[in-house]
Amino acid sequence: MIKAIVYKSNTGYTKQYAEMLSKSLKVPIYNLEEAKLKLKKHDEIVFLGWVCATKIQGLSKIKNYNVKCIGAVGVYPTEKNYIESLRKTNKLNAELFYLRGGLNYNKLTGLKKKVLQFVRNMMEKENKVENQEIIKIFKEGANYVSYENLEPMLKYVNSKL
Ligand SMILES: Cc1cc2nc3c(=O)[nH]c(=O)nc-3n(C[C@H](O)[C@H](O)[C@H](O)COP(=O)(O)O)c2cc1C
Repeated sequence: MIKAIVYKSNTGYTKQYAEMLSKSLKVPIYNLEEAKLKLKKHDEIVFLGWVCATKIQGLSKIKNYNVKCIGAVGVYPTEKNYIESLRKTNKLNAELFYLRGGLNYNKLTGLKKKVLQFVRNMMEKENKVENQEIIKIFKEGANYVSYENLEPMLKYVNSKL
């Protein structure tokens, strides 16, 4: 039985998806610190983490749990090849779902903000046709969080309850 939705979020989009899952499934929601206090070794969980430079954040902290599936929250478009590369880069065995989150510069600070600004400047200089969508997002921000995006993951988790 799934004991909780555990998440690692930086600017809030992953938390929103975790809250939506928690509400729909009626299971508690914990961030990694709370999970440490509330859960036991081998407890069944669903994990959601934000993507930073292709790495799903928080994965190293959930090794003690029985992870039923993983949601990766990033801002890049939902494409099969991208999801496959996330699975490989993060060496995942558990089922992976990609959930498109968003981007909010106002909530970013320090190095993370600088890295993103650097990538944006580079892309703008190169001005490649295939990067125009992501350049626009980097410029204006975006929010793609929706129940529609969550549906495949919700269906999967429901089938495991
Ligand atoms: C430094 C940095 C690197 C990022 N790298 C990626 C990436 O490799 N792939 C991606 O899809 N999104 C990337 N993003 C976008 C975040 O994953 C996206 O904003 C996500 O919704 C953040 O979730 P959160 O609000 O829960 O922190 C990056 C964002 C930052 C700040």
